[in-house]
Amino acid sequence: MRIISTERSQVLAARVAAKLGVPLVETKFTRFPDGEMYLRCGELDDETLIVSSTVDNDMFVQTLLLIDAADRSKNTLVAPYLGYSRQDRRFVPGEPISARAVARALSAGTERAFVVNIHDPGVLQHFGVPAKNITIAPAIGGYIGDLHLKNPLILAPDEGAIEFATGVAAVGGWDCDHLEKTRLSGDEVRIAPKTIDAAGREVVIVDDIISTGGTLATAACMLREQGAASIHAACVHGVFTSGAYTRLRAAGIASVVSSDTYENASSFISAANAIATAIRDDAHH
Ligand code: R5P
Repeated sequence: MRIISTERSQVLAARVAAKLGVPLVETKFTRFPDGEMYLRCGELDDETLIVSSTVDNDMFVQTLLLIDAADRSKNTLVAPYLGYSRQDRRFVPGEPISARAVARALSAGTERAFVVNIHDPGVLQHFGVPAKNITIAPAIGGYIGDLHLKNPLILAPDEGAIEFATGVAAVGGWDCDHLEKTRLSGDEVRIAPKTIDAAGREVVIVDDIISTGGTLATAACMLREQGAASIHAACVHGVFTSGAYTRLRAAGIASVVSSDTYENASSFISAANAIATAIRDDAHH
């Protein structure tokens, strides 16, 4: 087996290669004068692991080019962050099911696929090949343990993230709850943990994705008003669009970290171990 990756998943790919003890193959992406992408890969063998978070349209095209360059091998696609996966249904007539469109396209030339903490696992059904979701809740929990917080309270920002937050909290046997929005009046809402009082607690809000950071920033302000001793945030996919990282820090969140499924300077947590384990466990697929 050899590993190739897109430009925005190079670090994670190298970590997965080290964990699996398999070689990384060089890929060189350049552009034709008209802006189209050109790829040249080093030598591949009969099995290829393509590590590629489709964080933007260019990375999506790079992934398609990698899959095609490896057309003589048995290909496994690892798309730790699957772009377009949040448009997973037709909300109004005339829309595409974008998650289905990308899953179908990425299945051609692939034998099996893996994603990491996908927002809705239902998207996996759109792949034309066996597809699995890997959770890195244990890795996020490991990171929180290293912060040495006193009796931390792990909070999911909404009901949808309860399972993930429970997995994170299980690492240290910490308290876990989710935030609930209560409408107090026409223009007033209260966001607070459903059952556990945040007063005096070191709170860690965990989520699969931070995009605009809107929900988290509002929640952080309210938790501060409720007397939380400190507020931290950890997510899997740190998209941080529209100045989200700054917004969260400005809202008084003491630390904001994400994983290397979406490589950026806040990627202090790695999905490599979970990915390598999933690949190994699925070796006799
Ligand atoms: C939503 O259900 C997701 O789990 C995230 O909470 C959401 O996508 C985060 O988006 P934003 O950072 O833009 O509030």
